[in-house]
Amino acid sequence: MSDSIEPRFRRLLVTGGAGFIGSCFVRDVLARRDGRSITVLDKLTYAGNRVNLAPAEADPEQAARLRFIVGDIADPAAVAPLVAEVDAVVNFAAESHVDRSILDPEAFLRTDVMGVHVLLEACRAERDRAAKGLRAAPRFLQVSTDEVYGSVESGESREDDRLEPRSPYSAAKAAGELLARSYFVTYGLDVVVTRGSNTYGPYHHPEKLIPLFITNAIDDQQLPLYGDGLQRRDWLYVADHAGAIGHVLEHGAAGETYNLAGNNERTNREIVTELLARLGKPWSLVRLVEDRPGHDRRYAMDSSKLAALGWTNKMPFGDGLAATVDWYRQNQDWWRSIKSGEWEAYYRRQYAARLAGSREAT
Ligand code: NAD
Ligand code: DAU
Repeated sequence: MSDSIEPRFRRLLVTGGAGFIGSCFVRDVLARRDGRSITVLDKLTYAGNRVNLAPAEADPEQAARLRFIVGDIADPAAVAPLVAEVDAVVNFAAESHVDRSILDPEAFLRTDVMGVHVLLEACRAERDRAAKGLRAAPRFLQVSTDEVYGSVESGESREDDRLEPRSPYSAAKAAGELLARSYFVTYGLDVVVTRGSNTYGPYHHPEKLIPLFITNAIDDQQLPLYGDGLQRRDWLYVADHAGAIGHVLEHGAAGETYNLAGNNERTNREIVTELLARLGKPWSLVRLVEDRPGHDRRYAMDSSKLAALGWTNKMPFGDGLAATVDWYRQNQDWWRSIKSGEWEAYYRRQYAARLAGSREAT
């Protein structure tokens, strides 16, 4: 994850550590066996799943360095004592799905804005204790997203470009990271921000494009492609995203923001074509459905600032996609248990009318 022999931050609070990218970060840090300990604080929303940490919990040496606490980052009483005992906070916790933010934005404001505020206030209290010589001030890493730049019709976003978020999700994420930066400027907190691109890989909740289409295709269900399917995303393998965050945690400069690009730009149609070929399923499963309102056409980032910090992604896109398809084939219990209960109501709300009015994708 990080290149350092001796990690700078040994006791970590990882919020949202039961989600897709957070759990990968936790598994990978613990698997390095470098003595770091992790407290996970996770609300276990519909997107959180403690099973995602099972590989670490099954290993006694790793399990001894992992503590799991169910709680809300927007709850100061839960957060303050945990921040008091760590060297760094890495905040993955968020409502993360754009479509859900369109259906119901409120939870996004509560977690992605107010939750970040509560974490920052706890770090500020610890910085005050550090000023009295009682401890070292904690570092705060805010995990943000390329969506804060808005739709990028051409070229690549750089860290100092204007933020033009266009969905309730991306607006809330922009607010969260701007708040974090304001605590660096105003209170001198040790804050770093990462902006990651579209991430894919094992343990990805099946509400998102790649796992939704893999799991639907395995079951010969329709694949609802929004609009013309020519929107472009830049895909980053989950272990590379988690690794880059670990690298910025160790080596990033306080007050700085780092783009984490995948450098694998594809249209959604290209992604579906690759998935169907790997699964041996027909294109006739694909249905063109009503577009996402305010759908961003393209994201693309320049990540030379991260490269200058010494990080290079490791997973080639074809290999990452093959590993992802294999994982979903081999871990059907994992996603079938998610695709039940609350999922069915969500799926109907999001897709029933769309699929009823859908057309064949040529
Ligand atoms: P996810 O939805 O899979 O996981 C989010 C986790 O946060 C879950 O475990 C959930 O239970 C937890 N959580 C939600 N609200 C909480 C709260 N109030 N208190 C404590 N825990 C709470 O998300 P992900 O895809 O792993 O994304 C992680 C982070 O990375 C998010 O901040 C997201 O904005 C950012 N990001 C994601 C991507 C991507 O493509 N997935 C890309 C760039 C940035
Ligand atoms: O870019 C980073 C962001 O990537 C993260 O900040 C978000 O947390 C993460 O969810 C992701 O957002 P997207 O909206 O890009 O991901 P999603 O998988 O929802 O959609 C990817 C593309 O696929 C997008 O153009 C919409 C399209 N899509 C998605 C779904 C779920 C479809 O065409 N059909 C679908 O059913």
